[in-house]
Amino acid sequence: MSTIDFDSDNQIVSLYGKKSSYNLKLNSNSMPLHLHWGAKTCLSVKQSFFPANDRGFMILAKDRDSSYFAEEMQFEYGFAENGDFRVPAFRIRDGQNYPITGPFELTAHIYRGKNPIPGLPSARPGDTQVLETLELRMHDSNSGLWITLFYTMFPEYDAVTRHVRFHNEGSRPIKIEKAASISLDMYNWEYELLYLHGAWARERQLQRRPLQSGTTAFGSIRGISSHQFNPSFALVSPETTEFSGEAYGFSLVYSGNFLTELELNHDNNLRVNLGLHPDTFEWQLQPGDSFYTPEVLMIYSDEGLNGMSHNFHGFIRDHIFPPAFQNAERPILFNNWEATYFDFEERGLVELSNIAADVGVELFVLDDGWFGERNSDRTSLGDWSVNTAKLPNGLKGLAEEIEKRKLQFGLWLEPEMISLNSKLARAHPDWYISIPNRPVAEGRNQLVLDLSRSDVCEFLVATLDQILSSAPISYVKWDMNRYLTNVASPQFPASQQRELYHRYVLGLYHVLDEITAKYPKVLFEGCSGGGGRFDLGILYYMPQYWTSDNTDAVSRIKIQYGTSLFYPPVSMGAHVSAVPNHQVGRTTSLEFRGHTAMSGNFGYELDLRALSDAELRQITQQSAFYSQHRRLLQFGRFLRIKSPFESSEAAWMFVHSPESAEDSYDYFLLFWFRLHAEANPPSPRVKLAYLEEHAVYEQESSGLSYTGSELMHRGIILPQLEGDYVSQVFTFTKKGRFG
Ligand code: DGJ
Repeated sequence: MSTIDFDSDNQIVSLYGKKSSYNLKLNSNSMPLHLHWGAKTCLSVKQSFFPANDRGFMILAKDRDSSYFAEEMQFEYGFAENGDFRVPAFRIRDGQNYPITGPFELTAHIYRGKNPIPGLPSARPGDTQVLETLELRMHDSNSGLWITLFYTMFPEYDAVTRHVRFHNEGSRPIKIEKAASISLDMYNWEYELLYLHGAWARERQLQRRPLQSGTTAFGSIRGISSHQFNPSFALVSPETTEFSGEAYGFSLVYSGNFLTELELNHDNNLRVNLGLHPDTFEWQLQPGDSFYTPEVLMIYSDEGLNGMSHNFHGFIRDHIFPPAFQNAERPILFNNWEATYFDFEERGLVELSNIAADVGVELFVLDDGWFGERNSDRTSLGDWSVNTAKLPNGLKGLAEEIEKRKLQFGLWLEPEMISLNSKLARAHPDWYISIPNRPVAEGRNQLVLDLSRSDVCEFLVATLDQILSSAPISYVKWDMNRYLTNVASPQFPASQQRELYHRYVLGLYHVLDEITAKYPKVLFEGCSGGGGRFDLGILYYMPQYWTSDNTDAVSRIKIQYGTSLFYPPVSMGAHVSAVPNHQVGRTTSLEFRGHTAMSGNFGYELDLRALSDAELRQITQQSAFYSQHRRLLQFGRFLRIKSPFESSEAAWMFVHSPESAEDSYDYFLLFWFRLHAEANPPSPRVKLAYLEEHAVYEQESSGLSYTGSELMHRGIILPQLEGDYVSQVFTFTKKGRFG
């Protein structure tokens, strides 16, 4: 089946998804033009696609054999210096430092399949469907520059991936000052922007607002995608809800600095740019060389935000996660961080593992503090040899003890970092990022290794290899606890110093490529002080991520709700921790903490030795419940029902996805949370979704039954619970058909 149609007479290319299309037009002597992205559309060619008004004061751009008002056009990759005064997708200068302004000679090429992007993570083609790729090649004969736009449609998810290649076929270097991964000019049907903002321990809070004239921009210059803004966002119609209306989602497959620009201009055109942040980027493109931008995933849905999220979740599982984990159930883990912090030794860990095994945990993770002189965060990053005062039998001895309890063993590492107080820093003072002859700025008492250097990357690969082969380690928590600053590297000439932020990320991906290829079955969980680098670039290597350092169940409801807009629950590490909570000092019930954590990738992170027998029994029941429903919770369809950003309640459900081949679960789970009690409140009632209209569902605890249509259209009245921070999970099982 073909997904790309090329009408050569009219020079229109259409990429077709299940319910969507992406239509664009070629002008043989200029830039490709954007016609439509959204609900599946066939275009009549007997129309003029763009207004041709001279609004006064407009610049006539010159093509080879025509001219046009650039400001009136909708481009696929808008550029500067030709009379189009919107924020450009790219800025490039030739060997004379003159701007390259075209005209470009444009050709289209369509072929089967999708190739990887050299040096960068990108959507995996998978083997379930036949894919086609469109390449739009633009050639500037003056400089010898080729700019190629790549598009692949994944019809099942109404997903388009895009990226760009710059190739210098000329004889002089070309300077790339800005290179977004995507740019498109959409007519602004009063779109609203939905994006995720936050801070450390308060990541990915949902914000929705109308777009107004001018440029709305957000991004990161912290060296990582950041706690503050996520490189994913959506444009939605004003009437779009969780269940209906149009939603256009964007997510950058990249883990470093990024910029999103949304410019609404005088002609109600909305330019959307997403890609590398130009403030911290420049690239010298030498003759014969190519430069590739990161990829962007774009998803359309007319089934509201839940429809969009469903496509993102499925796409990420099938095309982003490493193959070994696309369909693999994840273990219930125990992590010792909030149980012991740095204060542990082997005997205590084994005691913890005994209890963990008894209560249903499957993976025991040893966090920070097992190496060098690491008894606080002031020392030893980089000295990855075991601290034998704490672990006299080494990692191997501990791991084997853990395995005797039928638990897998996992280990925390922070490979990208170095403490000034470490043997590594003393041996290699030139290995960390700093500006020569200027003071270094520490964050959490640590510095960042210079991954733009190949010797540093090779050291990391060898070190990781040595650790992973030294003991039976089946899981790694890969942490990263500071932003990048003072970025310079004497390894590179003056003209390339602005390449370093991007080169850092390329170095990181190189290390991850090497180590995950060598250890494809090791489960990696990403972490950056919680969720500071939660993006598709990392999920490509690490199919789960520590969602936030904030383990308070109340805060987590919002954090996980916001994160779920783009990322599936199976990717969100979520642990039950102690009360009063260590980040916010709040006390919530074990039940409430359990319900919140099992809505993500479930685990425990508290001192099990300090719990009563009754609490341990409750944990045993929780983990049994999670194991029983694991398939549904990790791979079912997740639906947001009630937003904690709009009221003091939240609800979501996990339902068997009808497209899935697994028909073993004819049931679903509904989670309901109330944060703050009020006197005489209205009875909680929610409408459910994605059920079979005529099926009869029985609710396990009450024995009451409902038709699917009743649950979806009339809603269900939930029992009134007393107090703050209360929650319930309801199991509904299909018991046949009504009538
Ligand atoms: C930050 C992480 O987010 C925590 O979970 C923990 O691993 C600490 N680092 C350890 O230093």
